[in-house]
Amino acid sequence: MKMKSVYIETYGCQMNVADTEVVFSILGAAGYGRTEDITKADVIMANTCSIRDNAEQRIWGRLEQFNIQRKSRKGVLVGILGCMAERLKDALLDSGKVDIVAGPDSYRRLPELISAAAEGTPQMDVILSREETYAEISPVRTDKNGVSAFISIMRGCNNVCSYCVVPFTRGSERSRSLSTIVREACECAAQGYKEITLLGQNVDSYSFEGQDFADLLGKVAETVPSVRIRFSTSNPQDISGKVLDTMASHPNICHHIHLPVQSGSDRILEKMRRRYTRQAYLDKVRAIREKMPDCAISTDVIAGFCSETVEEHEMTLSLFREVGFDAAYMFYYSERSGTLAARKYPDDVPLEEKTRRLEEIIALQNSLSLESNRRDVGRRFTVLVEGPSKRDEADLCGRNPQNKMCVWKDSSHKAGDFVEVEVTDCTQATLLCRLVE
Ligand code: 5AD
Ligand code: SF4
Repeated sequence: MKMKSVYIETYGCQMNVADTEVVFSILGAAGYGRTEDITKADVIMANTCSIRDNAEQRIWGRLEQFNIQRKSRKGVLVGILGCMAERLKDALLDSGKVDIVAGPDSYRRLPELISAAAEGTPQMDVILSREETYAEISPVRTDKNGVSAFISIMRGCNNVCSYCVVPFTRGSERSRSLSTIVREACECAAQGYKEITLLGQNVDSYSFEGQDFADLLGKVAETVPSVRIRFSTSNPQDISGKVLDTMASHPNICHHIHLPVQSGSDRILEKMRRRYTRQAYLDKVRAIREKMPDCAISTDVIAGFCSETVEEHEMTLSLFREVGFDAAYMFYYSERSGTLAARKYPDDVPLEEKTRRLEEIIALQNSLSLESNRRDVGRRFTVLVEGPSKRDEADLCGRNPQNKMCVWKDSSHKAGDFVEVEVTDCTQATLLCRLVE
């Protein structure tokens, strides 16, 4: 019999990329091959994101496309995995467009769910677990360059940020065993991966048998000294001096911290149930820069949260100026039903005003990114080659430790090499470099 094949599209965060790799592994062991051609797939799935309404709208649009395949070829099954499966549950089955609905903790049951759905009855498993970490599963890596690997170190989230759907879709926080993480890092190194990103919703609350995140980070860095180590995401109140010391003392840990701030106003931060003030955030930034003057800091921000005034929005702008972020992911508030904010606070900043505030933040960050890049002109960095640049095949591209994209002329290196470059010029998005011989 012909081997069945599965096609998966991944949306949302890096955690979902890592989860899709776990799903390929589970399905691979059950005899499903991976295909990147939707027209050849027996099972078509989307690993989905619920963080904002537009993320979900995109998936509904994709479901229409999936259903063209489902209707035109007999036996094709459509599955929704991940956060949207967890949030919408029956609504997905009721649409008549989906055969399998599986939440983030039910991937081990996918082979069973697919077989049962093939018998003609739609299947759903959205039970969240307190233990599941897929600890011993070796993911099927999907980085097309074979250079960068994700390792999930924990799942779920115990924070209660009032705007956020993640605790509902990914359940409570649990840490994966340290030994399985270290073993996976060794496997990545043996397979030729040159960069590992340790992933968790809140990496600083990693805790396993008395070992904290700094212990884990140091251990991974020491075990695979030729591999570059990154991590995400850190919460401003939780990132510890010990983590900063570990970063500063291991040459293979990249000096980049993603530190979501969300707002520059104390009243809004409190309403968001963030557990820090503007001043505490600024103090953390200062502590990072004192220990690692070359450390890049990026952030996430939400414009137009419930009841945010123009003055409060301007405090976000002033905080951005004060910190001078190297990069930012910027969003306007999208109400998610079931969250504390949706239950307690009216979503009362008009869409037009949210968009205006967001555009103002984006314009400011564009100028801050350019300033940050200009400060790098003349500096030298070790860059990990990802492959040819998109704009010009004669150029290579890759990231420096600070996570900035670098581009340079080069015909002698390939993906996975570490090269020395000097920054000669820049745009707002890219450092333009020359190879240092
Ligand atoms: N609306 C807009 N942005 C959100 N984020 C999380 N929830 C929402 C929401 N309801 C943003 C936060 C978070 C990032 C992953 O997504 O900035 O850090
Ligand atoms: Fe989206 Fe958050 Fe789920 Fe990641 S954890 S897929 S960002 S909702």
